[in-house]
Amino acid sequence: MATPALSLRHVSAFAADVRESLTKAGQRELPSKYLYDEVGSALFETICVLPEYGLTRADARLLEKHGEEIVSRLPSPVQVAELGSGSGKKTRWILEALSQRQKTYYYPIEISPFALAACEKELGHIDMVSIVGYEQPYLEGLRTVAEGRAEEDHLLVLFLGSTIGNFDRDAGETFLREMREILQPGDALLLGTDLEKDVELQMLAYDDPAGVTAAFNLNLLARINRELGADFDLRCFRHEALWNFAERRIEMHLRSTRRQTVHVPAASLRVMLDEDETIWTESSHKYQAEEVPEMAARTGFRCEGQWIDAEWPFAQNLLIAE
Ligand code: AVI
Repeated sequence: MATPALSLRHVSAFAADVRESLTKAGQRELPSKYLYDEVGSALFETICVLPEYGLTRADARLLEKHGEEIVSRLPSPVQVAELGSGSGKKTRWILEALSQRQKTYYYPIEISPFALAACEKELGHIDMVSIVGYEQPYLEGLRTVAEGRAEEDHLLVLFLGSTIGNFDRDAGETFLREMREILQPGDALLLGTDLEKDVELQMLAYDDPAGVTAAFNLNLLARINRELGADFDLRCFRHEALWNFAERRIEMHLRSTRRQTVHVPAASLRVMLDEDETIWTESSHKYQAEEVPEMAARTGFRCEGQWIDAEWPFAQNLLIAE
């Protein structure tokens, strides 16, 4: 496959977001969605197979073990949309179970063209399953799928891997509410949520000794250098993960190891960073199992089923739109 070209629209939106988040008063930030360029997506795939990062294996185990039961609880016929499909590997369990009972359309929705291409390659050959990918933001893509559906079709939305945890809690609920507005009563949402666990275990998952997560985090600066012509010196930043007790989330930061000035020409930006100042790049909120049905009820869904992994506290939650 040819490397997808960067559009002018992408570059100017990226530059505007970098400018806004780095010049905000107080804590400097960068939006976590920009962690996933080609290099970042490949590093994330590597994180998913690290022994310390149990989340993806738990997510996949639950789908493998309970996929048929989950599918048996869905309305019929049902078409599948996935928000942030990534490589799509674990989705196979759901698509294969569904293909036993009907011809299925699968719509992966991704802002990363690299992830979309990987997903189409991974899942393109399942019998009775046709793939139509959308390179769009989540809700925009979901709206396109919902508007194009046949009258008799229900929708199953997959939002796996605890990606909801990367939203602030309020923003996560707003997102569920917006999703609900696009859906019809009886449509389903399979929501993966990583659960709170031993803090040390949780920390290791985001600060692995091989340094893959550090590379994933630092690549965000490398990406700004590549795409916006910036001059971040990656050797003058250090990856840090911390557990924020009050917010019950892991935060990833990049700590400046010295006082330095960075230029980002495409964003017409010059940033002066103090020694020890951090740039906050991602939050991963963790949940209690009983929080999810409550969150569902507040956002227009009912929780039809919840499956929890025995090895790595993680829940698959089947929510039905009321
Ligand atoms: C995609 N997301 C759910 C991952 C997480 O665990 O928050 C991203 C990640 N960040 C560091 N490691 C993995």
